[in-house]
Amino acid sequence: MLHENLKSFPKDFLWGAASAAYQIEGAWNIDGKGISNWDKFVRIPGKTFKGTNGDIAVDHYHRYKEDVQLMAEMGLKTYRFSVAWSRIFPNGKGEINQKGLDFYNDLINELIEHHIEPILTIYHWDLPQALQDEYGGWESRQIIKDFTNYCITLYKAFGDRVKYWVSLNEQNVFTRLGYQTAMHPPGVKDDKLFYQVNHHASLANAAAIKAFRSHVPDGKIGPSFAYSPAYAATSKPEDVLAAENAEELASHWWMDVYTWGTYPQAAWNYLERKGIAPEVEEGDLELLKEGKPDFMGVNYYQTTTFEKNPLHGGTSEGHFNTSGEKGTSEDTGIPGLYKTVRNENLNRTNWDWNIDPQGLRIGLRRITNRYKLPILISENGLGEYDKAEEDGSINDDYRIEYIESHVKSIQEAVTDGVEVIGYCVWSFTDLLSWLNGYKKRYGFVYVNQHEEGEHDLRRMKKKSFYWYKAVIESNGENL
Ligand code: BG6
Repeated sequence: MLHENLKSFPKDFLWGAASAAYQIEGAWNIDGKGISNWDKFVRIPGKTFKGTNGDIAVDHYHRYKEDVQLMAEMGLKTYRFSVAWSRIFPNGKGEINQKGLDFYNDLINELIEHHIEPILTIYHWDLPQALQDEYGGWESRQIIKDFTNYCITLYKAFGDRVKYWVSLNEQNVFTRLGYQTAMHPPGVKDDKLFYQVNHHASLANAAAIKAFRSHVPDGKIGPSFAYSPAYAATSKPEDVLAAENAEELASHWWMDVYTWGTYPQAAWNYLERKGIAPEVEEGDLELLKEGKPDFMGVNYYQTTTFEKNPLHGGTSEGHFNTSGEKGTSEDTGIPGLYKTVRNENLNRTNWDWNIDPQGLRIGLRRITNRYKLPILISENGLGEYDKAEEDGSINDDYRIEYIESHVKSIQEAVTDGVEVIGYCVWSFTDLLSWLNGYKKRYGFVYVNQHEEGEHDLRRMKKKSFYWYKAVIESNGENL
């Protein structure tokens, strides 16, 4: 649809930015915090870029007041952050660490004082290592009880002031990288376990949402799903089918479960025939149905294009670009189902991520049509090399162009009738990229932190900071 005039953004639209505990806080072993799976994983040689870790990250733990001050100056309406589970429960369960609760209480109060709506992510990948050691973390059903207990602790502590909650961040990504590609902890490659882990995580997600209803009855909660809408490479029916396969196995597999508590049929049958479908116990499907979210959180970075992949001799796992050298990523696939292929119609970043603002509109419409839920865009942004000039300016026009085109696309989706609650740009300050150190930057605020040497961590506003401030001031009219 081409619209003559676009609808305005809703008056209470949540213009925001996002972050995650491990990527910004630092203070990894301070004030009673326990060890997380990431604290351990980054210490294994060769796992992260130049051995970077989040021991200090951008020291948000000690500088949160300065960071919130910058958010206020920018006029942010909302800020999405995550809680480090091992700060609250150093062993994942058992005794509560009061100093952990204090930190997030102070942060939340600081945000509210500055009229910034907090969006709290309960789990953004940093699992208490104690739970991994005790029962394999997400590999065991025991996680459901411990996760729910952790959630209820947060609901009780912050539910009076925090009204927007994200349950699990990108379940599809942390399980895939943790159990299929072995690039994230616990560094395992096991397809059957991957689907079992996902089943447990979905059950934990549902149990957490169910408990939320009685503890924060006036709040809203949903998962954040990493959605990469599937395109077919050509109009050949076999390529269209490949894209359908991908949409079902790589997206509906999670979003159907979140919304309806059911697994998509063709994907289920495929996995069952291969002997890798998850084991479902009595009562599981009922619990999944009781965990319907209030919104679908969507982390959108790019679309993916697919073509037919032969059953025999087809492409499987390929190299993922974590070097920032354009053109070094390889196609991946599942023989007999699909394989990825480069979309020649799209420009790409230096990390080979497609730049596709229209893909966001397409994705928002697909979710609306299928699930009829409001959508919180909980992440979207551009990871690139940034250069701080001698006069302190950072001219990230490419980031402005990226965000502007995506905001326009959201407005088109809003005009189409999609209900979008808010838009959280990834990220507010520069932060540690899990596998790419500090060279791949996303922030509106540059942080003088690098892979090697000691740095003063000072904050510097990028050109995009001023640009987004003006967008917020005009409620998206001034693009
Ligand atoms: C999302 C995650 O997948 O992508 C973030 O939720 C992450 O935590 C972001 O930082 C960007 O990924 P990367 O690899 O470019 O840092």
